Amino acid sequence: MEYLTMANGVKIPKLGFGVFQIPQDQTEQAVHDALEAGYRHFDTAQSYFNEEQLGTAIADGGVDRSELFVTTKVWIEHYGYEQTKASIERSLTKLRMDYIDLVLLHQPFADVYGAWRALEDLYEQGKIRSIGVSNFSPDRLADLGAFNRIAPMADQIETNPRNQQITPHEEMAKRGVIHEAWAPFGEGRSGLFDDPTLKAIADNHGKSVAQVILRWLTQRDIVAIAKSVHKERMEQNLDIFDFRLGEQEMNAIAALDTKTSLFFDHHDPATVDMFVHMLEERRGRA
Ligand SMILES: NC(=O)c1ccc[n+]([C@@H]2O[C@H](COP(=O)([O-])OP(=O)(O)OC[C@H]3O[C@@H](n4cnc5c(N)ncnc54)[C@H](OP(=O)(O)O)[C@@H]3O)[C@@H](O)[C@H]2O)c1
Repeated sequence: MEYLTMANGVKIPKLGFGVFQIPQDQTEQAVHDALEAGYRHFDTAQSYFNEEQLGTAIADGGVDRSELFVTTKVWIEHYGYEQTKASIERSLTKLRMDYIDLVLLHQPFADVYGAWRALEDLYEQGKIRSIGVSNFSPDRLADLGAFNRIAPMADQIETNPRNQQITPHEEMAKRGVIHEAWAPFGEGRSGLFDDPTLKAIADNHGKSVAQVILRWLTQRDIVAIAKSVHKERMEQNLDIFDFRLGEQEMNAIAALDTKTSLFFDHHDPATVDMFVHMLEERRGRA
């Protein structure tokens, strides 16, 4: 495994296993398989409703806690100083852990400032080893860093060959923020697994398109969070550190960028409406 080092010296494995959209009754098995495949970095969130199953699988998994890197994210419903603090205590209980390696604010909406101050305090108390954000654009990231005691150490944003996030990556690198990629495969949208450019590069190395994408991200010094419920794919997705993409291949992939989200645009007011609606639907669940 290769690692990146966050601004506070904490090392983060470049490849993580995400459990978004894995149903509760499949999460324990998936995490067991992922541990067996060799994953040591796990990514969940309060809003995925499977922190408890992840915690159980890790507790039973036989891997020392010190070898693991676990991330969770605070859901918007829990933003604000006191609520965020209480929600992290609940996450710790569900995860059956006495510290979390990385806690992110999941979305850039609602009382981000109150929530951030709670993360700062829990970080200083040692309950969280590093703190960051998710889905923050470069301006929001700069703002949060500029007017608080502690600047975000990571920003997890959608990043895949169709939405490469070149400018946000440069901004993060300038500010010493780790760039994490969610939906590295774009969940397969826009025919990504069948893209002819990616297929040709994959054939050239005797690898799969998925492996080429993960290699491309990690080679750009981006932490990739991939999800699969199939053990052979979990193993395949980890097996990316024995080859390197050449400059021409990196340039060919760069040409696939549409600079457009495959999901939703965080600058669009309709996205805020979508989250408000989601909050109403899920109130009290996360
Ligand atoms: N911060 C955020 O707002 C945010 C948002 C979305 C996701 N995330 C994080 O990022 C993680 C990954 O994102 P994601 O799950 O949305 O999408 P993704 O990793 O881009 O795509 C997952 C899809 O790809 C398939 N797949 C995985 N490996 C494959 C392979 N080697 N060959 C072919 N298909 C493969 C999976 O199918 P099978 O499972 O059937 O194998 C699944 O359908 C999440 O689990 C979560 O931890 C964060």
